[in-house]
Amino acid sequence: MTQLPAAQTTPAGGDNPKALYGGAGTRRVTVRDLALAKERGERWPMLTAYDAMTASVFDEAGIPVLLVGDSMGNCHLGFDSTVPVTMDHMTMLAAAVVRGTSRALIVGDLTFGSYQEGPVQALRSATRLVKEAGVGAVKLEGGERSLPQTETIVQAGIPVMAHLGLTPQSVNTLGHRVQGRGEEAAQQLIRDAKAAQNAGAFAVVLELVPAEVAAEVTRSLHIPVIGIGAGPDTDAQVLVWTDMVGLTGGKVPRFTKQYMNLRQALGDAARAYAEEVVGGAFPAEEHTFH
Ligand code: KIV
Repeated sequence: MTQLPAAQTTPAGGDNPKALYGGAGTRRVTVRDLALAKERGERWPMLTAYDAMTASVFDEAGIPVLLVGDSMGNCHLGFDSTVPVTMDHMTMLAAAVVRGTSRALIVGDLTFGSYQEGPVQALRSATRLVKEAGVGAVKLEGGERSLPQTETIVQAGIPVMAHLGLTPQSVNTLGHRVQGRGEEAAQQLIRDAKAAQNAGAFAVVLELVPAEVAAEVTRSLHIPVIGIGAGPDTDAQVLVWTDMVGLTGGKVPRFTKQYMNLRQALGDAARAYAEEVVGGAFPAEEHTFH
């Protein structure tokens, strides 16, 4: 990181100095640390991040895993879905997140169209993200359908996180409905999760699935399961950061929780500044050079 302050140590907390959140660790979190947390039965938080400064705040707060999600399409780049996001967008923003952090494991998404052609294309995209952005792992959507891609990337030494349930890159097929409802769909979800694990994935994201199904997947896998809209019984939770702080405009999904109203606070600050400029109160003497 060049201009931003170095990340502080994670907050003291819990009895375990090795805890992913609240432990004493200062080096980068690895996929092995996540595997050990699953063995210990420890729950942990993940957030998205799309820029160096926000990422540095979350890193200083001790969030152990940051996802440079293709949700940047909706939350950062002004698109109405993740579909238009390219590997050029992803590589540039993932590199910024890596530069802004010193402890969190940074996971970068493989964007729509960057891995669906097959394992060779997938490996090329994953390699680019590791070499040019410096991420520690990549995420791709799909279980059984992305098996050859996952196997090839893992065999090349790049950790893969799989994303199942509602997979936003398939919005034109799936819409925004809860996935894995009904016996057949639940069994397919479990098969997909096991397929991802067998292919070497180090973790699975489950998005918008019934809590009971997510709990069963979590029990069935030895790798960590990260839920978003998947109830309380997964090993970890992820939220899109702009949803989490109330910056996202319009309607947000029911499964997100807003911990502050940043949209209101930013708007208030902008209006206060504008009024002081218009009224002549800013800049004052202390902001002025002679
Ligand atoms: O792109 C993203 O932010 C994601 C999370 C919703 C898991 O994939």
